[in-house]
Amino acid sequence: MPTRSRKLAIWRALPPYLGGKRRLVGHIFREIDRVVPRRLWGKLTLLDGFLGGGAVSLYAKAQGFAVIATDIAERSVIVGQALIQNSRVTLTHEDILRVAAPSDGPPGRVEQNHAPNTFTAAQARVLDRTLVVAGETRDVAKAALLRLLAIRVMLLAHPMSQVRGGNMGKVAKGEFDSITQSCLPNYVDGLRLTRVDRLWQLAQQINAGVFHGEARVMKTDILGVLPDIPGHVFYMDPPYPSTSSYEREYKVIDEILEGESLPVSPFSRKDGAALLDRVFEKATHIPVWVLSLGNATVSIEELEAKMRIHGREVRSTSIQYAHKASLAAKESRERNREFILVAWDPEAALMQSLSPGMRQRQGEEVH
Ligand SMILES: C[S@@+](CC[C@H](N)C(=O)[O-])C[C@H]1O[C@@H](n2cnc3c(N)ncnc32)[C@H](O)[C@@H]1O
Repeated sequence: MPTRSRKLAIWRALPPYLGGKRRLVGHIFREIDRVVPRRLWGKLTLLDGFLGGGAVSLYAKAQGFAVIATDIAERSVIVGQALIQNSRVTLTHEDILRVAAPSDGPPGRVEQNHAPNTFTAAQARVLDRTLVVAGETRDVAKAALLRLLAIRVMLLAHPMSQVRGGNMGKVAKGEFDSITQSCLPNYVDGLRLTRVDRLWQLAQQINAGVFHGEARVMKTDILGVLPDIPGHVFYMDPPYPSTSSYEREYKVIDEILEGESLPVSPFSRKDGAALLDRVFEKATHIPVWVLSLGNATVSIEELEAKMRIHGREVRSTSIQYAHKASLAAKESRERNREFILVAWDPEAALMQSLSPGMRQRQGEEVH
């Protein structure tokens, strides 16, 4: 298990991700500890059904859980293959020299389709080269590390990690006057992302997230595979109903990684919370459920009721939280709540094996 300073370094390996739980993992795992004590985690499996940017899976792995993680999007599966499933392979300086090597071949897919509108020609060439080298790499972990490097470059090239077309052409031509002043430093820094020293710095950040553990990552719809996946703790962090969709936010990245944009996940729809009923029905074999959800369309009481139907006992907390603190208006920051619910099957063998003192602690009032 990583030491404390290494634990802090592992976060820098991850890409910034919409709805990522990096700032909430301490809270989430304290809630899990109240129901299943930390000392048992090294013998248990945590299923992360909506892997996203990987924060929860990486933290669970660092805490000793065996991890199984799924996501429908390649952008997430890449993080999983690079950092969750991978325990030993890292990027080398030679890898970076290879991806940064000047190429005088014809423009690749990123340069053809996304330069100069979304990336400068130089950024696009590095992205193309990185993805080609990844495609030629047989080791799954090394190929994923290279693709993760490309994702990090795409996100870093844009202010607030919002990969959109529009301004990059002006940046490349030095037409800085027509760009919002607060965004300018980010664009200018982004021009340095093609340099070997900057790419190597990023590679070292990514390498700091590689450590030993047991994990498996799958690119799949969780609803399709859930009944067949074993596990002790099922962490659910679906796209929140009625919020901006991942597929719109990451359209360009998905087009580059998947060859096309993805259809919007039904979890993002206004009635997305209804899908949770189907998830719960398929997860009755897993003794402990943990759900993260925002308060946009559904109340904490409704969520508790959905879980209790399945004979679960439930502990729930609600905290004031804004995912994009810098973007959210003050009023909506104050309104936004993050619900964390832990629900367990009191009849499950795992729960029955716990001491009476532990079982009493589970029921203690939530503050
Ligand atoms: C809220 S994010 C997860 C964030 C993650 N917990 C983190 O800390 O970075 C939700 C993720 O669910 C994925 N997703 C959407 N529908 C899915 C489905 N049916 N099965 C699996 N993953 C899905 C999206 O691609 C997105 O990456």
